[in-house]
Amino acid sequence: MLLHELFDIEEDIYFVEESYLAQRTIERTLQYLNGILDVSEEQHMQLLRAREGDHTLGLLIFNPADEEVSVDFWSVFTGSLALAPLKKEFEAIANSLLISNIPEKDVEISSEKWRDAVNEYYSLMLVNRNLCPVCTFKPESYESVFSEKRVMKLTKLLDLLQKKGFYFGARLLEVCSGNGMSTLALRRLGLDPLVVEVNKCAVCQGLEQGVLDPQKVIVMDATSIFRYFDPETFDAVMGFMLGLIYEFNKELWTGIIRESVLVANKGALLLFTVNSKPEIEILTEALHRAGVEGEIIDNTDSEGIYDQWIFVGRKQRT
Ligand SMILES: C[S@@+](CC[C@H](N)C(=O)[O-])C[C@H]1O[C@@H](n2cnc3c(N)ncnc32)[C@H](O)[C@@H]1O
Repeated sequence: MLLHELFDIEEDIYFVEESYLAQRTIERTLQYLNGILDVSEEQHMQLLRAREGDHTLGLLIFNPADEEVSVDFWSVFTGSLALAPLKKEFEAIANSLLISNIPEKDVEISSEKWRDAVNEYYSLMLVNRNLCPVCTFKPESYESVFSEKRVMKLTKLLDLLQKKGFYFGARLLEVCSGNGMSTLALRRLGLDPLVVEVNKCAVCQGLEQGVLDPQKVIVMDATSIFRYFDPETFDAVMGFMLGLIYEFNKELWTGIIRESVLVANKGALLLFTVNSKPEIEILTEALHRAGVEGEIIDNTDSEGIYDQWIFVGRKQRT
């Protein structure tokens, strides 16, 4: 795990927040850290720190084995993904703790790499079945889950769009990634998207098959991405095979579109594919309403399944 490498440690690691999403509100983190702060002057603590410049991104506190837990482990506290006021509160408590406890290791890391490390932790917890009380999923072969033909076709299509001048940029977000079949096409073009998907079993399958990168995937409802990412964070936001989209359920999908546009930079690429023309028309209307100019591409083929209709456009600068 990235965190083990970063601090050169071997013991188990546990984040105090139970999910990536809880990292936005860090209730437990603040509660536990305040408790630790109260006793920190009398009790020596083994502490590791990750920082970006003067900003503390994370603290690891050592917990020796005892009657309750038979192995040594490190508890990880971070405020770096939290809402701005909570992040400040975390840093203030961390700074107070650091006055009386000099960290054994004080490691400099970028906040992006730290975020990757946090993502990786929750991905590994998921794929190791630590987040689910029972797992009823039967393992399937790679070939039965991923269609190489589809991945190749999508890769070609994306390559063509790039050649036509649709620049994807460096910071990419893919929403509704499923098990990562569409992500494979992006990766084959050398792109490195962050992906979000609400179905944790789909994410788990993609991780298990080595298709999704544990550092770049988050189990998250795409109708609330704006709660977790700052406005205008990404150079491109895309989603493949969204749907099924009908008039009666379109609010869900247009909600995803609205949030996607909010986290996209001005001038960012917005790219979505669906199965049918009525579906792309619903998404296009929502994209136009959100300030995205673009075109519908008819990509229909004889099979009539994947990525048949495409919207590609840009978020307007004004
Ligand atoms: C047809 S699959 C497409 C998967 C993948 N993009 C592909 O092209 O192979 C649609 C995916 O959207 C996901 N999805 C639906 N609603 C979502 C939401 N609110 N947030 C995130 N993902 C969602 C589903 O779980 C499903 O994995």
